[in-house]
Amino acid sequence: MKTMLENIKREALEALNAAELPEHVESLRVKYLGKKGELTAILKQMGKLSAEERPIMGQLANLVRSDIENAIAQASAAADQRRMAKRLEEEALDVTIPGEPLEIGHKHPMYTVLDEIKDIFVGMGFQILDGPEIEQADYNFTKLNTDEGHPAREWSDTFYFTEDSSILLRTQTSPMQVRAMETRPLPIRVIAPGRVYRKDEVDATHSPMFHQIEGLVIDKGITMGDLKGTLNTVVEKLYGAGTKTRFRPHHFPFTEPSCEMDVQCHECGGVGCRVCKGEGWIEMLGAGMVHPKVLEGCGIDSTVYSGWAFGIGLERTALRRFNISDLRLIFENDIRFLTQF
Ligand code: DAH
Repeated sequence: MKTMLENIKREALEALNAAELPEHVESLRVKYLGKKGELTAILKQMGKLSAEERPIMGQLANLVRSDIENAIAQASAAADQRRMAKRLEEEALDVTIPGEPLEIGHKHPMYTVLDEIKDIFVGMGFQILDGPEIEQADYNFTKLNTDEGHPAREWSDTFYFTEDSSILLRTQTSPMQVRAMETRPLPIRVIAPGRVYRKDEVDATHSPMFHQIEGLVIDKGITMGDLKGTLNTVVEKLYGAGTKTRFRPHHFPFTEPSCEMDVQCHECGGVGCRVCKGEGWIEMLGAGMVHPKVLEGCGIDSTVYSGWAFGIGLERTALRRFNISDLRLIFENDIRFLTQF
């Protein structure tokens, strides 16, 4: 038995010495010291020894075991170190190599204009609202004094979701007027930018999806003078001090009186040119005093409160602002185009 123990020890130490990887060391541990290992197998035979031999062999076996354990600990530490050294070498990173240049995007000219407009209105105490693009016909039309049978409700102009024409893609941001009046405490000063949809073919001035900004003020004693004063201020901030505006009578179902606002042509200063098609003025937005019927429908007493509203097309405003001639460029998002602004 003594020879067997010494052989095991010699063999184990030799094998551990040669073990390269942590896995090798582990399998040697199992081989020699494991439950079914070689040393254990010998210890099981202790019973066969005489009473005198047993303690001597027991002592020797314990020595062999602790020698092998020490050798395993050493071999395992060495193997771990080798593995780490190898990893460090393999994963070495040359931080001096120049990086790949990263192409970053560019702010869209339309959002540049939108941010400017938002800033102007926030500076005047307005809040900014966001609302649903999938809208009820009630909000897009009926509550805006646009009854059944009104040409604006035609299937040929509007994307409807349901046969009964009750759910649609909003055709204007004006339903946000109703949503604001129904849910917010008075007085109200809000703008609501967002996407709107109409069944238009794509060309240089049309797109089935475009953006509008709705504006709404409701308070006691609000007049058309407030509307003109506010919009003039906005236009001067956007296009420069002294920019002239013109208000023309118009019709919208949800305002009375209604108007359209033109801005004097930036290109010719009002004389008439190609940009303004000889008019000297460029149409900018629709506006008016909120119709009493709309106020009452939202539970607001029209004998106490009055208000004004406007709706402006965002793409057109950006086109004019940056002198872009084709609406499609706004939607194509070609980085070579966008980086010009
Ligand atoms: N919603 C109108 C449109 O899409 C624009 C508009 C006109 C909005 C007058 C208004 C308004 O708030 O008072 O043509």
